[in-house]
Amino acid sequence: MKESKLKKVKVSAPGKLMLFGEHAVVYGYPCIATAVDQRIYVELAKLRESLMIVNSESEELDNYAKDLTELGKGEVPKGARFVEMAVKNYISKYPIKGGVELNITADFSSQFGFGSSSAVTVAVVYGLARLSGKKLSNKEFFDICFKTVLDIQGKGSGYDIATAIWGKTVYFVGGGKKIRYVPVSKLPMEICYTGRKADTVTLIDKVGKLKNSQKELVNDIFVSIGKLVDKACQALIKNDWTRLAELMQINEGYLEALGVGTKQISNLISVSYENKALAAKISGAGGGDCIIILNTGKKLPKEVYLKQKGVIIDVKTNAEGVRIES
Ligand code: PMV
Repeated sequence: MKESKLKKVKVSAPGKLMLFGEHAVVYGYPCIATAVDQRIYVELAKLRESLMIVNSESEELDNYAKDLTELGKGEVPKGARFVEMAVKNYISKYPIKGGVELNITADFSSQFGFGSSSAVTVAVVYGLARLSGKKLSNKEFFDICFKTVLDIQGKGSGYDIATAIWGKTVYFVGGGKKIRYVPVSKLPMEICYTGRKADTVTLIDKVGKLKNSQKELVNDIFVSIGKLVDKACQALIKNDWTRLAELMQINEGYLEALGVGTKQISNLISVSYENKALAAKISGAGGGDCIIILNTGKKLPKEVYLKQKGVIIDVKTNAEGVRIES
């Protein structure tokens, strides 16, 4: 294939962590999320042939090839679903000449719930635009990428896509109705992985079921979550950790009420308080993945989390959004 490559670009996009507002954001309320310094890298090379070729060791894709006219049709390996749909959605809006080869690598395991699918979607679309010399606004990128996520998983707020594009820390209203930066100077959070991968769609459905049978109560919870997200924004800007801790505690209580907690998550949160953290909560859909811990003191002892099968992960928050690497 090498001789037919015309041009190359390498793009990377960050993973994300939800800070406040999960689940309510699916119903049009706001949330706050931050980009993490764990990234997905996509190297794109133009091909003369009308083909998409994907390589990704972690997703066990070795020269997975498809004609551009066949994208989205037939069997698609699990690890190629977002990439293939992203290419399909991009080229149906902005046709390209020839095809594209994509080589994908990652800093992080897709198990952590850091949003590898959204990061890869963003990196692919950004790279395709760059390869074809197309200048798009962040919102235009968002629309193509969000459509890709909805095409694959049918539901979701799009916050992970927005965070991968904008980077830093963002205030996001469900569906992308509002996306703006939260100017944070510090984010004294530690992250603990539960060791268990959560299935976002299953948990969204679980909350949806509760919302159907307890409409008024669940709506009230969503409204309150929306209010606490706005307050959390102010507390973050002012580095008001006491206030932020209160809001984290309340947000966690609502998530428990929505039924997305687990015994292990409760144990990890208790351990955090016992070790003088200011607060801790689920980050994301719940049911596993990660918890975030607000801690302005000494680093938390990793062993006490390990006793509860939790692993403290060393990641930096407020990281840069999608970017060209070379
Ligand atoms: O853990 P994640 O990234 O799948 O977080 C899901 C957050 C939800 O609000 C439950 C879903 C969404 O798309 O916003």
